[in-house]
Amino acid sequence: MLPRINPQKTTAWSKLTAHYHQNQWELRSLFAQDPQRFSKMSVQTDNFLFDYSKNLITDETLTLLLDLAKECHLEDAIERMFNGDKINETENRAVLHTALRDFSQEPIFVDGKDIKPQIKRVLDQMDAFSTKVISGEHQGYTGKAITDVVNIGIGGSDLGPVMVSSALKHYRSRLNVHFVSNVDGNHIAETIRTLDPESTLFIIASKTFTTQETMTNAESARRWFLQSGASEKDIAKHFVALSTNTQAVSSFGIAPENIFEFWDWVGGRYSLWSAIGLSISLSIGHANFLKLLEGANAIDKHFKETPLEANIPVLMGLLGIWYRNFFDASSYAILPYSQYLDRFAAYLQQADMESNGKCVDRSSAFVDYQTGPVIWGEPGTNGQHAFYQLLHQGTELIPADFIAYVNSCNPLSDHQPKLLANYIAQTQALAFGKTEEEAQDELLQQGLSHQDASRMTNFKVFPGNTPTNSLFFDELTPYSLGQLIALYEHKIFVQGIIWNIYSFDQYGVELGKVLAGNILRNLTTDEESHENDSSTQGLINYFKNKKNN
Ligand code: F6P
Repeated sequence: MLPRINPQKTTAWSKLTAHYHQNQWELRSLFAQDPQRFSKMSVQTDNFLFDYSKNLITDETLTLLLDLAKECHLEDAIERMFNGDKINETENRAVLHTALRDFSQEPIFVDGKDIKPQIKRVLDQMDAFSTKVISGEHQGYTGKAITDVVNIGIGGSDLGPVMVSSALKHYRSRLNVHFVSNVDGNHIAETIRTLDPESTLFIIASKTFTTQETMTNAESARRWFLQSGASEKDIAKHFVALSTNTQAVSSFGIAPENIFEFWDWVGGRYSLWSAIGLSISLSIGHANFLKLLEGANAIDKHFKETPLEANIPVLMGLLGIWYRNFFDASSYAILPYSQYLDRFAAYLQQADMESNGKCVDRSSAFVDYQTGPVIWGEPGTNGQHAFYQLLHQGTELIPADFIAYVNSCNPLSDHQPKLLANYIAQTQALAFGKTEEEAQDELLQQGLSHQDASRMTNFKVFPGNTPTNSLFFDELTPYSLGQLIALYEHKIFVQGIIWNIYSFDQYGVELGKVLAGNILRNLTTDEESHENDSSTQGLINYFKNKKNN
């Protein structure tokens, strides 16, 4: 069992509150006071640098945050997760996405059974299948090689694979891999519009195999396929399923040999490492998929074995708590300086917000402190021409992670140094800003009169003191992407433990699903509901009056 410790009742929390109020939190003076700040507050590994020196912290802050982690029994919780304890207590499940990327000989037990052999079996099945599809040996029903793969899934059965396939486009196989998630028919219609059913492979990815969006899209895909002249028996060559619910997959008509299984101890938003990663294996080749897993495993080892004070996901998690609970920062920006990571923030929104967007603690009491922040972001430099104005001069404190790669996969002329100059400059500007005096001097130097300079000065002030972490990888490879994702998975874990919440369930998505079921009946039948509020009923009536047929 995980501990039930209200973090606010810990000694460390009280000390952190006092410590927060006793200090000015000015990055200019923090850097001026300590020339060694960068070397003290950064961690360098074989292939990346984590610089957390531009945070509103002192040595004492770190000590107190680490004390908080210890008082909340973080180390014990980490051990429990890796050991397969059923720490997803509300669903009575173990949390073992880490086992999916553990290539050691050590067994891992769930309910007394070693799960390593079944993980290996499915990985081998994925390897054999994706190798055959990529080589052209697996052919469609008319003998054509597969050219296009459409992954149909949503949430965790979509966002991870979409993000990784997009991030690793540089390593792509010859296949075009597409993703359909939304129940909006436009999504599948536009995706299959130019595809040839004879050379298209559909992957139906759903842990439960009951999700409305996925089942609806899968049925439409099957209809489209059969309308091309194919027969039911041809489905075997064009449809495979990734699921824990093998019975529902069989009822859909997918042959047992086309099912890639995973298990209830893999959470949806932590599932890209499992059979859910089949679209990744197809899009970059299985050898690269394994490298992704190896990268994640390297971070697992780091997380499990490194003392808290040098443990990168622990530091990331604690810094997030510092801003969320003591500075009242309600959102957190993820800013990758790599166009390849264009879906990274969207992926992290699910990983983080579905995990830690909770208001009930592990004793089933409502919390009276803040938990998960809003996660958002876009790649730089695009964001600089959009929302960075608010980061620099808005009224909210928004901490941010800046992610970049030293070397580009496409080293075109001077794109990379320009990109990285922006990456580094933004963290500098956010940290140190521009004072009133500096702003005024600058205006005077530009030739403005004293009166005009005074009138303009405040508009040109940058308050600074916006905290950032910089994650600087040598290169974007499958291995380093695996590391990056695992860093965030474990950061989320650390925060969930300290906030005393359950990070691995998602009951908050259920109410909307149930109500949509009721409303669907109202929209599609003559059934009248007398239970709806006037707004809901008004919207239903408007639809019924205006729909074309
Ligand atoms: O939206 C809730 C959710 O259950 C996610 O947690 C999950 O990743 C997604 O739906 C898809 O679920 P499934 O893989 O079962 O179709």
